[in-house]
Amino acid sequence: MKKLYIETVGCQMNLLDSELVVASLRKEGYELTNSTADADTVLFNTCSVRQHAEDKIYSALGRLKDAKKQMPNKVIGVMGCMAQKDQRLIFQRAPYVDIVVGPGQLHQIPRLVREARENPNQQQLEVSLGRKDGAVETIKRSHESFDPLRDPTMRPTPFQAYVRIQIGCDKFCTYCIVPSVRGPEQSRPGSQIVAEVQQLADEGCKEVTLLGQTVNSWRHTEGDRTWRFSDLLHAVHEVAGIERIKFVTSYPKDMTDDVLAAVRDLPKCVKYLHVPAQHGSDTQLARMKRGYTIADYREMHDRAKKWMPNVAITSDFIVGFSGESEEDFQQTMDLVRECRFKNSFIFKYSERPGTKSADHLPDDIPDEVKRRRNNELLALQNQISEEDNQRFLGQRVQVLIEGPSKKADPNAAGPLQLTGRTLCDRIVVFEGNRRQVGQTLPVAIYDANAHTLFGAVVTDHVGPEVFSLAGVSSAE
Ligand code: SAH
Ligand code: SF4
Ligand code: F3S
Repeated sequence: MKKLYIETVGCQMNLLDSELVVASLRKEGYELTNSTADADTVLFNTCSVRQHAEDKIYSALGRLKDAKKQMPNKVIGVMGCMAQKDQRLIFQRAPYVDIVVGPGQLHQIPRLVREARENPNQQQLEVSLGRKDGAVETIKRSHESFDPLRDPTMRPTPFQAYVRIQIGCDKFCTYCIVPSVRGPEQSRPGSQIVAEVQQLADEGCKEVTLLGQTVNSWRHTEGDRTWRFSDLLHAVHEVAGIERIKFVTSYPKDMTDDVLAAVRDLPKCVKYLHVPAQHGSDTQLARMKRGYTIADYREMHDRAKKWMPNVAITSDFIVGFSGESEEDFQQTMDLVRECRFKNSFIFKYSERPGTKSADHLPDDIPDEVKRRRNNELLALQNQISEEDNQRFLGQRVQVLIEGPSKKADPNAAGPLQLTGRTLCDRIVVFEGNRRQVGQTLPVAIYDANAHTLFGAVVTDHVGPEVFSLAGVSSAE
């Protein structure tokens, strides 16, 4: 058995890509290890969305320099978005790296690893075309996806899976590197997606999360039929065995009535929408080229809340983007106060080379101001999350149990702390036992903080005849 160490940073797209790469390498006789020291192959699946994500990988690579000297046969590979962005620069900064593979070329990894082992001195680069390197169709073809290959053991749990429905992005928000590293937006055919979900369900998967950078912009024509995203939700909803359907990330402008109606009317659809606003000021939104105003965002938000009063909405925000005045920032604070998001992911603006904002807009907010705004917004969001979570005290929620919590002792024989999610995607922690993992059970909530609800499984009285009918002992 050869040993593979793989480290993944970045978004859900990368988690899924790593799952697929592991599946392809298992076919080559690899098994996973969690130490770089005894790995035959070390892979980093990288992200370029902020400088910090890149720095992390370059320092991890730096730590491998000596290991490679001692074990020249160790294959070191850098894959993912930073591979596509930095290309040969990676070989310059870390000359002992053997392969650099962009996210649109991951299907080549088994061959590249094999060749790197046979020819240790030959560095190999496989990347897709840049956004200006040819006709759109040619560029699209250079971003290949190999989604049908799956490895259930790489998933967070065997009953939850990501399903990519769209690759790339065409929105070109001025700050964002994703369109250049992930290529043109392409939607996968609905029939293929449904077949994949069916296969996952057959393998015991209960929850699917549909992935796309602007997932609700998904649209696909097959023959004479054009599927909208809402049609896809309906089709996935038909798949027996699937109990929950989630999707991320939604684009505010494409949150059309048909999408909201599908989420409202389809019981398997999780009542949770991740629709990043990015900013609360119209001038900043225009500089970011997000394609909507705060009035548009507010209209979308109010419509979702009106149609589904209990829907949980989450957002991303960037603070300290080019030209952000104190007043602009306060408008972001106002939007958070008004929308009371379940949660917000807050990022300090990080200039990305090659983006429109890097070329045309100065990165002019000092880091300490970015940091202060980040902390202020985070404190406000935490206060709101905590207040809103308090509303759950005394309530009973249906929890899909994901597994032992971070604090649980993995070797515990008896009861252990479990974690799961409500239908509105809130995290719930409670005491249970391993057998309950993968089940959906009622939990009564007795405590809450900003990020977590704490509860106890509700065990309703069930008569002994029911137990004997079900063929289980009452001790169950
Ligand atoms: N497709 C998603 C976001 C993908 S990137 C969407 O459109 O919402 C995830 C998040 O990273 C973004 O929502 C944004 O808030 C943040 N982000 C992207 N580029 C950034 C940059 N240059 N600096 C700081 N944060 C950034
Ligand atoms: Fe980036 Fe904007 Fe595309 Fe999201 S929609 S991936 S923020 S360019
Ligand atoms: Fe990062 Fe690439 Fe995802 S840049 S956020 S890993 S699409």
